[in-house]
Amino acid sequence: MTTENYIKEFEKKVADGTVRLGVIGMGYVGMSLACEFAEAGINVLGFEINEERAEMLRRGRSYVRDITDEQLKRLRDNGTLDATSQFDQLTEMDAISICVPTPLRKSKDPDISFVMNASERIASFMRKGQVIVLESTTYPGTTDEVIRPTLEAGGGKAGVDFFLAFSPERVDPGNAHFGTKNTPKVVGGVTPVCTQMGSLLYSKVIDTVVPVSSPRCAEMVKLLENTFRIVNIGLVNEIAIMCDRLELNVWEVIDAAATKPFGFMPFYPGPGLGGHCIPVDPHYLAWKLRTLDYRARFIELAGEISSEMPEYVVSKVVTALNDQCRSVKGSQVLVVGAAYKRDTNDCRESPALDIIRILIKKGASVVYHDPYVPSLSLGSDELSSVELSPEVLSAQHCSVIVTDHSCLDIGSLIKNSTVVVDTRNATKGEVDRSKVVLL
Ligand SMILES: NC(=O)c1ccc[n+]([C@@H]2O[C@H](COP(=O)([O-])OP(=O)(O)OC[C@H]3O[C@@H](n4cnc5c(N)ncnc54)[C@H](O)[C@@H]3O)[C@@H](O)[C@H]2O)c1
Repeated sequence: MTTENYIKEFEKKVADGTVRLGVIGMGYVGMSLACEFAEAGINVLGFEINEERAEMLRRGRSYVRDITDEQLKRLRDNGTLDATSQFDQLTEMDAISICVPTPLRKSKDPDISFVMNASERIASFMRKGQVIVLESTTYPGTTDEVIRPTLEAGGGKAGVDFFLAFSPERVDPGNAHFGTKNTPKVVGGVTPVCTQMGSLLYSKVIDTVVPVSSPRCAEMVKLLENTFRIVNIGLVNEIAIMCDRLELNVWEVIDAAATKPFGFMPFYPGPGLGGHCIPVDPHYLAWKLRTLDYRARFIELAGEISSEMPEYVVSKVVTALNDQCRSVKGSQVLVVGAAYKRDTNDCRESPALDIIRILIKKGASVVYHDPYVPSLSLGSDELSSVELSPEVLSAQHCSVIVTDHSCLDIGSLIKNSTVVVDTRNATKGEVDRSKVVLL
């Protein structure tokens, strides 16, 4: 078959809905994408290396908070979503999306071993005419310099025998307004026809597709977005420290600044960076730039300021205890919220873990509450979430709000606590804030 035939066949399958999509890596991103396509009636097969996870999916059991068991079961029963750990079925797919993790090594260098593994598996079972898209966040050049040669090693050529593109996943877990469907999708192929094929695939389920000139550009788009966030979060965290020195309420300052209808976008301070993206992704960019003899100074500084926030929060606890003539050692401290983000159960890189560790190291007796995180393992310490009963609250010398889950009863928390260190301005709107210490 010629390239034109591959294009025509793919266009036809997308148009009549018979296109088969394989999603490699059924984690948060892969599951969300797979469900979006399956909801549109597209046949999706999830390729998951973790057999336990694949089995859970087949039984219609979700391990991702934004996706329910009911939705999985419904999609499984109507035959649009299935999962496997048998990678030979990759041959049957018309399109393959790679959604595997891209973590950092201890040295803060990118670990693209999962992406490599996925590409090698695709290469082993590749069929001509397939459309392959990398979605994992990574440094500019990965698709072209790492994936393309792996896939071309078998003799096929990108843009001729198969189609390769990068399209960053931009979903915001827990966001009630923007999901996979209504978040515009950037697509950059290694040739113009690859961009066209990738865009065609996504336009089947996503409202707006934004084609760009290359995978390198699309990779950089995602890193710009997350660098923008890390820098602004670092900035506002430093502004919070400055306001504290100036005896100003940083939240009042931000709210007033945000009334400017142009040229200002509010970011809010907090206990530190968390999650799989913001603390990790900019380091991919900084690493790539190091290989080009350039230091990404904004990223380094912003990361440094925000990584000191857990210590800063603990210093607030120390002061709050000091005001009661107490030392941290021997005090009872309650940490409210373990997840890095409100209304999620995701504890990856959560600053709550650092705050608990520092407090324990200083000799405090720490308990935590998180309705979405029943237990925590911190080295040799195993903790279980406690209920926020008046008895538990009044037994603490200090309560620290680290994650402002929307289900928290803030009124009761303030009423029954001795003192509340509030790192999120979660107590805003409460009439009596006399016991509250803001970040
Ligand atoms: N979670 C987010 O909010 C988010 C948002 C945007 C971008 N991203 C990016 O998307 C990518 C995936 O993130 P995630 O949060 O879904 O990760 P995750 O850890 O939740 O899921 C990854 C899944 O891939 C599986 N896996 C690993 N290697 C595999 C292989 N070779 N074959 C098949 N399965 C394999 C793992 O078992 C796991 O189930 C990362 O690059 C991340 O940076 C994540």
